[in-house]
Amino acid sequence: MKLGYLLAASIASVAAAPVSQLDKRLVFYSVSNPLLQVVRNVDIAAKRLVFSYGPGTGGGPPSPGGVLGSAYVETDKLITNAELAAQTLVDSSDSSAAKDDKDKLNGLQTLDDYAKLYDGNWESASAPTGVSPGLLTNYTQDLFFSMQRLSINPYAVRRLIPGEDSLPFAVDDTIVEGLTGKTLATLLSEGRLFYADHSGLAELEHSVNYAAACDAYFYISPASGEFLPLAIRTNYHSNLIYTPADSADDWLLAKILFNADDLFMAQFFHFSGSHFVSEAIYQAAIRTMSEEHPVLAILRRLMYGAFGIRPLAVQVLFPEGGLIDRHFGYSGRAAESYSTYLYQSGISGAVQNNYFKTNLKRRGLIDFVGGPALTHFPFYEDALPLWNAMNTFMTALVNAHYANDAAIAADPELMAWMNEANGPAEVVDFPTSTTMNTRAKLIDLLTHMAHLVSTAHHVVNTNALITAGAVLPFNPGALFKPLPTTKGATDVAQYLPDVDKSLAYIFNTGLFSRPLLAGTDRTIVHMFDDPLMLLRMKPAVGAANTAFKNTMTARSTAVKNRAFDSNGLSQGMPFVWKTLDPDVAPWSLTV
Ligand SMILES: *[C@@H]1O[C@H](CO)[C@@H](O)[C@H](O)[C@H]1NC(C)=O
Ligand SMILES: [Fe+2]
Repeated sequence: MKLGYLLAASIASVAAAPVSQLDKRLVFYSVSNPLLQVVRNVDIAAKRLVFSYGPGTGGGPPSPGGVLGSAYVETDKLITNAELAAQTLVDSSDSSAAKDDKDKLNGLQTLDDYAKLYDGNWESASAPTGVSPGLLTNYTQDLFFSMQRLSINPYAVRRLIPGEDSLPFAVDDTIVEGLTGKTLATLLSEGRLFYADHSGLAELEHSVNYAAACDAYFYISPASGEFLPLAIRTNYHSNLIYTPADSADDWLLAKILFNADDLFMAQFFHFSGSHFVSEAIYQAAIRTMSEEHPVLAILRRLMYGAFGIRPLAVQVLFPEGGLIDRHFGYSGRAAESYSTYLYQSGISGAVQNNYFKTNLKRRGLIDFVGGPALTHFPFYEDALPLWNAMNTFMTALVNAHYANDAAIAADPELMAWMNEANGPAEVVDFPTSTTMNTRAKLIDLLTHMAHLVSTAHHVVNTNALITAGAVLPFNPGALFKPLPTTKGATDVAQYLPDVDKSLAYIFNTGLFSRPLLAGTDRTIVHMFDDPLMLLRMKPAVGAANTAFKNTMTARSTAVKNRAFDSNGLSQGMPFVWKTLDPDVAPWSLTV
């Protein structure tokens, strides 16, 4: 009976049942009640026996084990696989059309030929936006490349802190002064110098394809205030250092080398930082909180379908000859161990240290005092309204269920969750039963979970790949010819994927896309919009959901209306970026 109830509570069929049928057994969510706690403890103990831990699927911390744990995974696989099957139809149909249209590609002999890949093709798989406007025409501009660091992968770049950081590598100061009017040391001391470091990738096992392991400088221009690229070092063989003073072809090739590394990093940062982290937190919650607990209820909502994706990753991404081997410069096995490293080191795995604003502050991207502010930060601009709205909702939820701060420490299930997360669930940098002592801290934590499963994930994955982050020719996963060890490149296209590889690459990025969810109740607008869950919550939570939906709908309109200004820019970038439209991006992790 108990097990049956727990399973039923976890699957969508209950949520779909008319509320009237459920009235009789409708139990309102509540935090601990000393009298009921004994009963709740019996339920929790029974649940712990059947929801245990097994090895991390595809690396990382433990994944669900036991009869109930496996049932959760199977239920989520059905959700994930059904969405994937629907998308495969869309993507395959686009793929056939693109293959029939191959002749127009001219064998992809020149960079301009690559733009033809998307011309009239892949429109269903990348709907509703298609490839971001400007992406295929403006990619050779330096501002385009630098602003990618602040939009399509916002996880890599950081400001070098004057007086604290030293220079990771030297660049000829005659060149630096020619480009920026200042020396490298002066740029650092003025807080204008930024750094993105993928040099650690050099340690990883290569695939049959080619990749460098670039690190790079960016700077805020003293003249224009723009955020621009300064130098790229390859950390490969002769370890070339490229700058905008090199020939156009050499510099473009260097930027593509960096982008291939950056895409690899972004994907496994997301795999570990969104999937590993949120799953580990959720598993700890399942094992410590009653099915009647409002915090477990909101986590269940956010983690809709989420256990379905790692089994898929193990099947199609990481094996020999899998998608990573085919399209990246590093192997699938390297991708798995790199994900585990990013998790365990806390780089992507740390919870509190990666709270939305904490992370951006730590990297000197917001609220920095020792240097000029970024004039444009598209990721922050688009993520902040979503984070604020999630925070407002979680404030209503927590305040509705906890009368004051003292009620937090007095909730034994919440405290058990902290201990479990810091213990066998192997969550990194989670609050402890000592530090989780105010409502504000619980609000921060729950807001972060909502952020991790939505904004933090979709900015680099889901629809982002085929529309922005993995668009050819500028953002391939690898290079397909041995990399030059001297400067003097003349034909950048020869390093890029050939026709068949390119079509396969776009098809595979299209599999991650979810155009069928746009405008449906699966988008961020509907993140909390679960009638049965809301009925079981305090009424204030239902009102908070209505407010959230209104805010997100208005935000979606603002993003949808985005276009180039009179300078050919949007958010200070030479492309129009709509990835974080809350009525297009999903509210959970089924990709
Ligand atoms: C970027 O591309 C679009 C069209 O593709 C163009 O209208 C716009 O002016 C370009 N922006 C810049 C800065 O070149
Ligand atoms: Fe994902």
